[in-house]
Amino acid sequence: MKKVLVIGSGGREHAIVDALSRSSKVGKIYAAPGNAGIAAQAELVPIKDTDVEALKAFALKEKIDLTVVGPEASLAAGVVDAFRAAGLDIFGHTKSATRIESSKEFAKVIMEKSGVPTAAYRSFDKYEEALEYVAGRPFPAVLKYDGLAAGKGVVIAENLAEADAALRDMLLDSAFGKGRVVVEDFLTGPEFSFMAFVNGSDVYPMILAQDHKRAYDGDKGPNTGGMGAYTGLPFIDEGDVAFGLKEVLKKTADGMVAEGCPLSGVLYGGLMKTPAGVKVIEFNARFGDPETEVVLPLLESDIYDIFEAVAKGEKLSEPLKWAPKVSLGVVLASKGYPGSYEKGYEIKGLDEVDARLYHMGTKNDNVTIKTNGGRVIMAVVVGDDLAAARAKVYEEIKKINCSNLFYRKDIAHIAFNE
Ligand code: AMP
Ligand code: GLY
Repeated sequence: MKKVLVIGSGGREHAIVDALSRSSKVGKIYAAPGNAGIAAQAELVPIKDTDVEALKAFALKEKIDLTVVGPEASLAAGVVDAFRAAGLDIFGHTKSATRIESSKEFAKVIMEKSGVPTAAYRSFDKYEEALEYVAGRPFPAVLKYDGLAAGKGVVIAENLAEADAALRDMLLDSAFGKGRVVVEDFLTGPEFSFMAFVNGSDVYPMILAQDHKRAYDGDKGPNTGGMGAYTGLPFIDEGDVAFGLKEVLKKTADGMVAEGCPLSGVLYGGLMKTPAGVKVIEFNARFGDPETEVVLPLLESDIYDIFEAVAKGEKLSEPLKWAPKVSLGVVLASKGYPGSYEKGYEIKGLDEVDARLYHMGTKNDNVTIKTNGGRVIMAVVVGDDLAAARAKVYEEIKKINCSNLFYRKDIAHIAFNE
């Protein structure tokens, strides 16, 4: 039986650990650093997800068969490069391939070279030139800081004053560090997440999901890490999926091979179905969060086989199998999130809940489970259809008793035309 190490500590990593625990090949799972929910299925190892040397030393000492990387920060820190140099099998992209997420301009150049549909753009490192360009274009203007900016690097400016303020932040005041800005055309249409396991030019697609980025019902309020997700998107047809696979994911995988930095992990396409067809809004170099928590429960193939094949650069012997069902998940977040919030509130009733509970930010003080982050827990229900899954998840959430949590009541509203 195999020993696996999962790097990360969120709901995404909990869903990965949960999927691995269903594998017939896996005997022991470690999570570094993990969280209170993950602790039920894995042994927690108190190592930070970016402490590459300590992670490598642990994997060597424990003779870990396979390591799976959750967060982009670990990838950007070079954990995959370091593990491979030490002869360890690891699922995730090299530092160089992770640029598909960490650099907006790199992603744009790969898409341009590979003929992948995306918004037209120009990039700038001088404030005056960027402002002049934006002033001569229609609004809203989409301004993207070129680098990892913890989800805060994208500004949709409605007018010149807003664009000016954002460009000053990004290019003059170095709020994010010295960098470049990608200015791109504003696109419209429903967004969806199309993830795939990618190994060089081989692309194994997952089922689609849709995230809910805004904090409040009706897609109002500030942007968050994601307040809920579901699969079974009625507004995306087979043609869109085939197009996304062939024209986006496959072409990007080939483009990365041609660039000399092949992918060896998850490619996440943040796509939009615009009136002019499916286009790329962004790429991520890892599983989406909260999409992973709704997608992996439907995976019927053994996930260890997939991770191992990609880590070893081998082909999968058969296409991925998915349960013919849908899933819907709701995130319970600390009041105040994504702004400031308090931690340490007791959460009761979790044992009563008949749903998958993926912990995102919890702590176990040996007596009770307490809130320990902005996004705290995600409840996920698998059902025959979205209406059933939605009704069930909202019924089950009522059993969770905590005075400092809130959640959106309208997950999947686009699917219901609400
Ligand atoms: P990103 O971090 O690139 O995913 O951008 C964050 C959010 O900004 C996306 O989920 C979209 O809702 C929005 N966005 C980004 N780029 C565009 C675009 N070109 N047109 C319209 N909305 C966009
Ligand atoms: N759900 C969006 C992301 O993972 O970046």
